[in-house]
Amino acid sequence: MANWVRLCAAADVPALGEAKEVDVQGVAVCLANAQGALAAVDNVCPHRAGPLAEGWIEEGKIVCPWHAWGFDLKTGECKEEHSRVKVYPLRDDGADLLIDLS
Ligand code: FES
Repeated sequence: MANWVRLCAAADVPALGEAKEVDVQGVAVCLANAQGALAAVDNVCPHRAGPLAEGWIEEGKIVCPWHAWGFDLKTGECKEEHSRVKVYPLRDDGADLLIDLS
């Protein structure tokens, strides 16, 4: 069952090509703005727990700042390393950006 909660104000989303960490209900989320499309993935890199939101966006991926694993912002996949992060659905309700934490 969906669990939609407020992630941040719509006005507080990261600028184009940037990412930021948002903590919501005990979950650290990496909110990224890749080419105008917002995406939310787990902020903790599955390699050695690097902070993905402190990395950079490249070709639709968020790249971990510690050892440069790149995770597709649509699927969460890192094909090269056979790894993945969780991708969360997002919804814009006008004033706020909502995330489904289920
Ligand atoms: S901790 Fe992210 S690539 Fe190593």
